Amino acid sequence: MNLLTSCVAIPLVVLGITISNMSTPVSGKKLEITIANDLGNFLNLTVHCVSPAKEYDLGFQVVPYGGRYQWFAHDSSYLCDLAWHKKYGRFLIYESRRDNRRCKGWCFWRIAQEGLYLHLAKPADRDELEFTWD
Ligand SMILES: *[C@@H]1O[C@H](CO)[C@@H](O)[C@H](O)[C@H]1NC(C)=O
Repeated sequence: MNLLTSCVAIPLVVLGITISNMSTPVSGKKLEITIANDLGNFLNLTVHCVSPAKEYDLGFQVVPYGGRYQWFAHDSSYLCDLAWHKKYGRFLIYESRRDNRRCKGWCFWRIAQEGLYLHLAKPADRDELEFTWD
């Protein structure tokens, strides 16, 4: 854990406790965000997410093929830089107004060579290609 991560982690924990103490069971439901590496060929995925509104920086993560990176949303949006081999992109991975209804508590992104798929449960279970690489 680097210095930046530890500086960010403490306010996140404090905020999480505050929210869960104040809210009702329904509105206090946490939303989880998962980024799953499905690139194949043992390719690593580098992930760096920030919440623009409150300036949380989740730090750099290297997610191996078949691995997942996940966190609970403590802000209304997250912007992530994703990189692998020679591809790179900056994507709005979570935005509460866009995603709260369709994610239903869990925004699950599957990262593949052709692009970023979001898992959607309705009307039928499927992964929908939302973004492609430049
Ligand atoms: C992925 O990352 C691991 C750990 O840093 C490294 O050992 C491995 O060589 C990387 N794989 C590729 C395909 O670059």
